[in-house]
Amino acid sequence: MIEVGGNGRLWLLSGVRSGYALRLTEDDELLHLHWGPRITVEDAQALAAEKIPAARGFESPLDGREEYPVEGGPRFTRPALSVRADGVRGTEWAFGGWEADPEELRLRFHDRLHHLALTLHYRMRAGSDVVERRVTLTHARTRARDGVPLELLRADSAAWSLPARDGWRLSHLHGRWGAESRLVRAALTPGEQLIGSRRGHTGHAHLPWIALDAGDAGEESGEVYGCALGWSGSWRIAVQSLPDGSVQAVGGAGHDDSGLLLLAPGDSWTTPVFAGLWTEGGFGAASRAWHAWQRRHIIPAAERHRPVLYNSWEATGFRVDERQQRELAVKAAALGVELFVVDDGWFGARTHDAAGLGDWTPNPDRFPGGLRPLADEVHRLGMEFGVWVEPEMVNPDSDLYRAHPDWAQHHEGRRRTEFRNQLVLNLARDDVRAHLWERLDSLLRGAPVDYLKWDFNRSFTDAGWPGDPYPRRLWTAHVEGVYGLLDRLRAAHPHVAVEACSGGGGRVDLAMAARTDQMWTSDNTDPVDRLAIQHGFSQLHPARIMAAWVTDSPNEQMNGRFSPLGFRFVSAMAGVLGVGGDLTRWSAAELDEARRWIERYKRIRPLVQGGDLYRLRPPGDGLTAVQYVRGDESAVLAWLPAQRYGEEPPPLRLCGLDPAARYTDLDRGGTHRGAVLTHRGLRTGLSGDLAADVFHLRRITGE
Ligand code: GLA
Repeated sequence: MIEVGGNGRLWLLSGVRSGYALRLTEDDELLHLHWGPRITVEDAQALAAEKIPAARGFESPLDGREEYPVEGGPRFTRPALSVRADGVRGTEWAFGGWEADPEELRLRFHDRLHHLALTLHYRMRAGSDVVERRVTLTHARTRARDGVPLELLRADSAAWSLPARDGWRLSHLHGRWGAESRLVRAALTPGEQLIGSRRGHTGHAHLPWIALDAGDAGEESGEVYGCALGWSGSWRIAVQSLPDGSVQAVGGAGHDDSGLLLLAPGDSWTTPVFAGLWTEGGFGAASRAWHAWQRRHIIPAAERHRPVLYNSWEATGFRVDERQQRELAVKAAALGVELFVVDDGWFGARTHDAAGLGDWTPNPDRFPGGLRPLADEVHRLGMEFGVWVEPEMVNPDSDLYRAHPDWAQHHEGRRRTEFRNQLVLNLARDDVRAHLWERLDSLLRGAPVDYLKWDFNRSFTDAGWPGDPYPRRLWTAHVEGVYGLLDRLRAAHPHVAVEACSGGGGRVDLAMAARTDQMWTSDNTDPVDRLAIQHGFSQLHPARIMAAWVTDSPNEQMNGRFSPLGFRFVSAMAGVLGVGGDLTRWSAAELDEARRWIERYKRIRPLVQGGDLYRLRPPGDGLTAVQYVRGDESAVLAWLPAQRYGEEPPPLRLCGLDPAARYTDLDRGGTHRGAVLTHRGLRTGLSGDLAADVFHLRRITGE
């Protein structure tokens, strides 16, 4: 709901539990008023009437208060917008009007000198508390001869202002390949903290998400602010802790301020969305609100549950052929797998990682009849069929590169840096996108493919574009090119689901979540490491998109760790379950056990993929557990990496249950009173090392 007050110069957006208010001063400065629990327009007007403390010579009355601080004028905090035209920098805007529909408020401004029109968008969808912000920047002159181009040096999506507190604490997710999205939570000291990526993709090092609390929030109590960016290229979020105890966070596309793009007269650019969420009820409630919003508004067809997947990458690497994949498919189908995916190695001369990338036709030695015979067999076995692609890349040893060496990102006269023997194509180019569209569209028309795993296995290094008048735009235009291709493919092949992958979780963000059906969380499939990675991932994203595989033990790719099949399964059942082991080497007993775990997963799948998540105990040496609640049912997944001192692990105090109701344990029988499960807790009976189990509870109705 959007209300207006203050003589048409004050706005209040109200969600289910939260409110967000802003107002214009007489000088058209757009000031933040409130972000927190719901208030009324009268409350917001009273806040607007409060006197802003007088500025001394070295301080600005605007700092920390503005909705979108621009470069120039009396401002010392980090600007969200920096524009240059004809050698003149800065922005001085005048208010140009506003409009609102039930879910979105748009405020228009104009910088006369630069002919720059700005629209600030604030969207709060019905039933949600997430504020989605973005900015549209337009060169307001329409005829080329009337204006010089405007250079957007920096154009963040939003600035978020948080009230003064005695101390703020920042939570974010950091990592690297094989160790993504690990949660770190520490006091915010005066000054500024930056997270981001200068790699051309979202990156393994940080997810574009932050949470801020006053140091007093717990998993299920306290006030938490969160902000998450929907952008899959380089990005930056700057969190500034200001002297008065307030915080301002700005964020958007691009890591530096050295130029995003040029706006010619008539051109427009809209920034990615930077979403913000205020919640009470701790980090758990914040995550549940983010999850619900993504399932409802961001993730395509989120109400459809994701199938159990098989992928042989860890088992067979590049050694794939039709006979072997058929053999695996038969075994996978017998386990209850619903989607069979052929990973890297099926196309071109791709028998290793140094050749063939870019040549998206089946390798004739490996798949003599193309992909169709295998796809038909997989369908006959009752599974969907998927293939791996990495459209944005090319091996120099490929037909594509030999024909079009200029299609790779490069700087004239400079070395082309190879990572994993590959270069990045320039998807900002129309001809590159047209070619990829044709190749991918024919792939999907040539065989009954139901699923694409879309990978991206190296960062940008030489992001040049010889001949283009403003090559720096490649950094954003490549990303928009990927979005365009994905959107077009999905529209033309609506039955095809897409998995986002970037060497594991190197491209996990809200914009990818909006265009894909699930994400490959990490190449690290060690079931113990995964608990921490999944714990971090779940801070923002729901289990509905978090793909996890059960692979072989010992885990040869990561650490050589031996782990029981049950532990591996329960670890992967916390997301979208997949199997990635060499099934030809699993014993009959292991295959039978796997079949039973998959059956169990299917029974709890609606809870995992569509329920509310409670993180009962964080990962560590001791007992770790998550709980999903949906309607009358609940599932608890518990893991004990290592039992210490022979002690029984503590009972798990469950959440989200009706204390007065009784619950049946559907696997073991027996009933428990809700009040006992939440107060004393559920005894797991886990002991020893690497023990894990699942508890599926259903409320007894009619009592
Ligand atoms: C990336 C992915 C893996 C696999 C390989 C194939 O590393 O994360 O799952 O698909 O590429 O080359």
